[in-house]
This record gives sequence, C-alpha cells and structure tokens, in this order.
Amino acid sequence: MQPRRFRPSGPLKGRIRVPGDKSISHRAIMLSALAVGESRISGLLEGEDVLATAAAMRAMGASVERIDEGQWRVHGVGAGALLQPRGPLDMGNSGTSTRLLMGLVASHPISASFVGDASLSQRPMGRVIEPLTRMGAQVSASEGGRLPLILRGASPAVPITYRLPVASAQVKSAVLLAGLNTPGITTVIEPVPTRDHSERMLKGFGADLDVTVEADGTRVIAIRGEAELRPQAIDVPGDPSSAAFFLVAALLVPGSDIVIENVGLNPTRAGLVTALRQMGGAIEAQNPREVGGEPVADLRVRHSALTGIDVDPAIAPSMIDEFPALFVAAALASGTTTTSGLDELRVKESDRLAVMATALAAAGARIDEREDGLVIEGTGGDPLPGTPDAIATHLDHRIAMSMAIAGLASRQGIEVDDTRPIATSFPVFEAMLDGLVA
Ligand code: S3P
Repeated sequence: MQPRRFRPSGPLKGRIRVPGDKSISHRAIMLSALAVGESRISGLLEGEDVLATAAAMRAMGASVERIDEGQWRVHGVGAGALLQPRGPLDMGNSGTSTRLLMGLVASHPISASFVGDASLSQRPMGRVIEPLTRMGAQVSASEGGRLPLILRGASPAVPITYRLPVASAQVKSAVLLAGLNTPGITTVIEPVPTRDHSERMLKGFGADLDVTVEADGTRVIAIRGEAELRPQAIDVPGDPSSAAFFLVAALLVPGSDIVIENVGLNPTRAGLVTALRQMGGAIEAQNPREVGGEPVADLRVRHSALTGIDVDPAIAPSMIDEFPALFVAAALASGTTTTSGLDELRVKESDRLAVMATALAAAGARIDEREDGLVIEGTGGDPLPGTPDAIATHLDHRIAMSMAIAGLASRQGIEVDDTRPIATSFPVFEAMLDGLVA
C-alpha cells in the first residue's frame, strides 16, 4: 500500500495535457493487432490497463512495440489469425481489456484463460459470456460468472442479433469484435447510447460497419464479418475521464485558472462538462478540432461557485466514469445534488456508490446513499473538514483521484490509503497535480 495525504492547496494555475484516452488506447492496440501490416499509434496511454492489453495481443501473436513516449508500432496478424496464447492472459485491474479480448477470442479457434486482480475477480463477466456463448464460444468461469475463466472460441462463430440488456460499451464492443471474424452480419441493438469509439475506429480500419438510429434513439449497429482491416496511423486524444479530476479541482479551489489541452469531447463521453456547466462551472472550450476521428478542444477552467442540480439519468452513460469526481463537486456546491439510475456504478472497479458515500462522509460531507444513486447536501463552498484516518480506495483508481481532489478543498487534508491503483489509468496524475498547485 502507498498512502498519501492530499492537503489543502492554493490555486491551481497553468496548462496541462492529460494522457491519451484509455478506451481509445485499448481499441487502437486491438485493431492494429488485427490489421495486416504496420500501424502507428501516437498519444497512447501508457497506463497499466493498456499495457495489459498490449501484453495480451503480443501473447496472441502481434508485435506491439514502444518506440518513444506515447509512440507505438504494431504489426498485426490479421483478423482470424490470432494465435493460442501459451499462458494465462493477466488482465490486472482492467475490465475493458477482459471483456473486449473475450470478444476477440470468441471467434478464433483458440482458447485463453483470463485472470485478474482482486477487484477484477469480483466483477461480473456474465454480461459478455451470455452473448459470446450464443455465438458459439464455450466458457468455464468461476462462481457467479467471474474471473478466473477459460474461454474457448468457435470457428466459425455464429452471427447473432443482440439487444443490450445493460447500457455497456464493453458488452457492445465484445460482440462487435467477435463479429469481426464471424461469417455474415452480427448486429447489436443499443437502446441507450454508450461510448462509440469501437464503431468509429472499426470504420477507420475499413470494417464494413453500419449504424442506423431509430426514431426513439435506439442504435442498430451491424458489422459484416471476415473483414480485412487495413493498418492505420492513429492519434489518441486526451482522456476526458482523466481531465475530469482537474476540471473539478480547478472549479473548487478559489483562485484557480487552468487550461487542459487536447481533451476528447466525443458526445458519448462529455456528460461531466455538461453537468458541471449546469452547476455554474466556468468551462470554456477553446480551439475545437478533430483528433483521430474524435472531437477535441482545450478546456479553460476557472474557480466557480457551484450550485447543486438533479443530474438527468439520461446523461449517465456519457459520464459513467466521472460520477466519483462529480460527487466531490456536489459535496462543495450550495444546495442539493441528486443522482439516480446509477446501478452500474456498483460493478465498476469498486462499488463506487458505497465507497464514495463512505469516503466523503468520513471527510465530513453530508451524503444519503440510495439504491441507484447518491443525494449530496453541499457545503456551499466551505472546505470539507477532511479525514484524520486514511479512506479506503478498494483498488479503484478513480476513488483515489477523486478523494485526492477532495483533499485540496478540505481543512485538514484527506488521506488516501493507496495511490498505486492510479497507475492503471493515469500514471502521471500526482506529478501533474503537484505541478499545478506549486
Ligand atoms: C469502457 C466502458 C465503460 C467504462 C469503462 C470503459 C470502454 O464500461 O466504465 O471504464 O472502454 O468500453 P461499461 O461498458 O461496463 O459501462
């Protein structure tokens, strides 16, 4: 364990550039590894989760090499040509690696065993086992559909039409990736839109993928299998989920004025910016442009007096990873913030509703935990009292970073029990934070 006390700070000032988007980085490695020939990736996130994906693709035959910081070269094997890995694929803490790679293996004539850390081994895999089994894969999982598990792919796999029972980009992507090497057309029906990086990137690599949107907003995504992917040069935009912590920190700490450069603002990811603006946050998008087929801007963020809001559950999927940061903002706003429809937060790297409720309450915030959300009574801008003892982060990077930010806006600081998990998604977080408050 690596504990640290995050102390009250002066204003955050300066410009930062957050590392590459985690979701896009995983997909860039996977699709490059399935294209025939050499792809180049720049701005790749070099966090532990993405490195787990890189190691797995190497174990299945691709050459995945780091040339320089964020610069990677991948020689793909071609869809359909993944090799049988010799040992278990160690997914570490990464749900995205696990679920997407299960999809890839499902339509190859190989079997793979998936293992992970204590947090990942608690997370439900039934949601991908179910559709992948329908496509012909055979899975033998630990109790409750959990890791460790062994997945034997089908060759040929059977195309299916699958209506997502949960709003999950990981489940959608697992089925689409399985569909890449399945004869015929595999279709995913998505009643609630989730992040669409897989669709965008599959098209970019030349897959035959078609998205139609029905009158009620339901998205129907069809992919034609046995695709030949063409190698690409991919530029990964900055991760809005990493920018989230600095957005909230700058809004909360008086006198702050920062610019976060190159932040991905794909509408399926930008819900936090919308919610914070509704709360009164001064967030200005400068220099809007496109990077790697994704909308991007530099965000100027200044300290603002925030007011509590009812967060519309319809925008939840577009900020699903940002709720821990939003809860911190709400704890210092004036008035009440109500969140609902967040059952999915209970099956992330930790139970983020329970863990954030406990952590923020320990720091002196007024929190009411409901089945599907938190109701938070803000301090009206007064700092939180803070914690004498360490708060438990349960191997969850986003809990650690959210409570670090809360520490800046507290009287006695907040001690986080373990900062190591931050390296799964944002290895330079502490250095960047220390730089902004220096
Ligand atoms: C992700 C999808 C989301 C998100 C996760 C990354 C992805 O998970 O929470 O951090 O890259 O597809 P779900 O699909 O489980 O909602």
